Amino acid sequence: MQRIFSGIQPSGVATLGNYLGAIRNWVALQDEHECIYCVVDLHAITEWQNPKDFAQQTREMAAVLLACGIDPTRHILFLQSSVRAHAQLAWIFNCVARIGWLNRMTQFKDKAGKNRENASTGLYVYPNLMAADILAYKATAVPVGEDQRQHLELANDIAQKFNHDYGVDFFPNIQPLILGVAARVMSLRDGTKKMSKSDPSDQSRINLNDDADTIALKIRRAKTDPEPLPSEMEGLANRPEARNLVGIYAALADMDADSVLRDHGGKGFGAFKEALAALVVDRLSPIAAETRRYLADPASVDAVLRDGAGRAAAIADPIVAEVERMVGFIGV
Ligand code: TYM
Repeated sequence: MQRIFSGIQPSGVATLGNYLGAIRNWVALQDEHECIYCVVDLHAITEWQNPKDFAQQTREMAAVLLACGIDPTRHILFLQSSVRAHAQLAWIFNCVARIGWLNRMTQFKDKAGKNRENASTGLYVYPNLMAADILAYKATAVPVGEDQRQHLELANDIAQKFNHDYGVDFFPNIQPLILGVAARVMSLRDGTKKMSKSDPSDQSRINLNDDADTIALKIRRAKTDPEPLPSEMEGLANRPEARNLVGIYAALADMDADSVLRDHGGKGFGAFKEALAALVVDRLSPIAAETRRYLADPASVDAVLRDGAGRAAAIADPIVAEVERMVGFIGV
């Protein structure tokens, strides 16, 4: 059985982008794989997190994953900071990865922006930690949204260089699983930018804890163009906002985009947005209710995470110990 690893940062509330690009696929993969899912709090502090909000966001992210259907009895759900192997292996990978490789990472460029000198060094070496997350478990498949593809290519480069430098055949090749019609959900305010939990504008995204009125309002206000919806896919060329809303509809209705256009083509956005809002509310409100139920008993969420951390460490610790021996640490 293939071992799956994936993670999500608790740097805000999970969005519809996280759900469609990742979490929904994580849930589906549980039927036929051994899955290890992680709330990556070490990654989140590469950008400033207010400690009090951060603790709450971390617990809430775990609750959202449980509410979406991650099953911690058959699989593993845990916090990254609870398993030391991640940071230990990341340090070794800091010494394997090359500065030139990291300089090519587009996400660093986007996140650091113009003020690069002031970005944390953690943000710069972030992809090395991500490689460590996956390879500490020797996971071979990683379900992610499109935006993580470059990081997974780098993880493979690190694994290969490690194997080569130390003359071993130790780390496996990692396969990205970028699944579904909504592997890249865009901002509701700008169809060329991805929907993100850390975007300063709350109007740019649907949060998994938004109530029905908020969802309807955000969709009604979503940026669109003046043309009606086309009846065929070619009609969406150069219309990123229209394409995005159609993609979201298709993903949530389990349809392909062509069928959505067949049903809604020719209509103005007013009617389509109403239909989309109803669909989003229908799919997300049970998740929000279930999340609230988990959060009403935070100790139960913590217990799941603690148990997950123990089981995760039992897999990762021996793998990282072996890596340390290969490197030549004498471990006395
Ligand atoms: P993060 O927290 O930004 O996002 C979590 C997952 O959601 C996907 N995603 C999206 N998919 C479609 N459309 C969007 N607008 C959208 N926004 C986010 C992401 O691709 C991701 O799959 N670096 C990772 C977390 C991470 C990780 C790992 C992932 C750390 N270690 C090891 C896989 C394996 C990140 O910041 O995800």
